[in-house]
Parts: sequence; C-alpha cells; structure tokens
Amino acid sequence: MDVQTHMKELVAAEAARHVESGMILGLGSGSTAALMIEQVGRRWQAGEVTDITCVSTSFQATGLAQEFGMPLAGLNDVDHIDLAIDGADEVDPALNLIKGGGGCHTREKLVDARADRFIVVVDATKLSDVLGSFPVAVEVLPDAYRQVMVALTAMGSQPQLRMAVRKAGPVVTDQGNLLIDAAFDQIAEPRELERAINNVPGVLDNGLFVGLADEVLVGDVDGDTASVRSIRR
Ligand code: A5P
Repeated sequence: MDVQTHMKELVAAEAARHVESGMILGLGSGSTAALMIEQVGRRWQAGEVTDITCVSTSFQATGLAQEFGMPLAGLNDVDHIDLAIDGADEVDPALNLIKGGGGCHTREKLVDARADRFIVVVDATKLSDVLGSFPVAVEVLPDAYRQVMVALTAMGSQPQLRMAVRKAGPVVTDQGNLLIDAAFDQIAEPRELERAINNVPGVLDNGLFVGLADEVLVGDVDGDTASVRSIRR
C-alpha cells in the first residue's frame, strides 16, 4: 500500500474509533468517508460495536453500509444523530468547510448539521487559510439551472454546470437535480455567501458548511511516514 493510501486509512480508522455501541451514526460520502464506513463496518461485523443505526448521506454511503449489513434509517426515522463523520474538499482555520466535490452536499448538510458531534476526515492538502481554492457546489432544480447560473455570476463567481464523465449530459444528483460548480476567488465571509447562494430561487443547498464541524482529523505524510492529528474548535 502506498503512503498516501496508508495515511487515508489511518485517518479513517481514527475516526471509526469514535463510534460507540448504541449510537445513531451519520455516514458521510467521498473516498475518505468510504474508508471510514468500511472501518466501522469491520468493527460492526467483529461485534466490537453493537446496536448502531446509520443515517446515510448518499447512494454511495447507503451501498457501503448495506455491504457490511449495518442497519440504516432515514432522517425522518431518527430523533437525533449522535455522531456524523464526513470528508471535505477544503477546511479553513475556523473549521468551516467546502464540500460537494462528490455532489452529495445537500444530504450531507442535513445529516452533519443534525449531529451532536461532527468529525471531518481529510488529508493535509485540504487545509487552507481562506476558503475558495475549491469551487462551491450548488444543487439546483433542473428547471432553474440557467437563472441560478446568472445569479451566481452576479455574485462574482464563474459558474459551470457539472458534466458527467461516462454519460452524455450533466451530472444528476441522488435527488435527481443538477449541480453547478461556482468558483469564487477568496471567500472572506463564508456564512454570508452560504446564505446568499441559498437565497437564490431554485437552489436546494450549497457546499459551504459554516460552523458545523467540531473536530477535523488531518492525515499528514512526511516521506514514508503517515500520521494523524486532530484540530478541534
Ligand atoms: C461529497 O459530496 C463531498 O462532500 C466529499 O465529502 C468530499 O468531496 C471529500 O471527498 P474525498 O474524501 O474523496 O476527497
């Protein structure tokens, strides 16, 4: 296993150690969260944790939970979520995030915002002094995509409809909507921008996650050595 993969495995394993028996658990999306779900799944199958209920953020997370036979519930079936663990595309020093590189941010925000504790799993390349290196994903109703792109341009971004790779046409989200990637230079006021984007008619949610993360587990690679550190709010 190469050192980058080993580092991601370490971060995922560290996050999975926070899962305790009896928890209602929010399962994030993306490649790092997927490794975490596998680690939780192994602990579940080994009987190390029992009586957990998983709330999924995506088609991907649901499939992984099913592979390991972990019990799933919908957001409307649970009265709280103890812990959510999810990846991110960019993290600032205040632990504000940009998410949505995998197009799952709308359900991710529902789950992550509802959790009593939200832990983020990333590698050190995701840390940034000011958000804006990664475009802000915006999920829109298909009928609204053109007018939302006009509004995002007026806000100073360069919006692009996210196109599919092995399918003709645009990416369609798990909810059947479209995605616009809005590139902003430096996002000085992420809370204001998050609200402004969500105020555009036709927008379901965007990938700015402000004030939600409690802890970020960061994987570092130094030569052949991988390590994990924690940043807390
Ligand atoms: C999914 O929509 C995203 O929010 C992911 O959590 C994010 O893109 C991180 O993914 P990786 O762990 O694959 O980088």
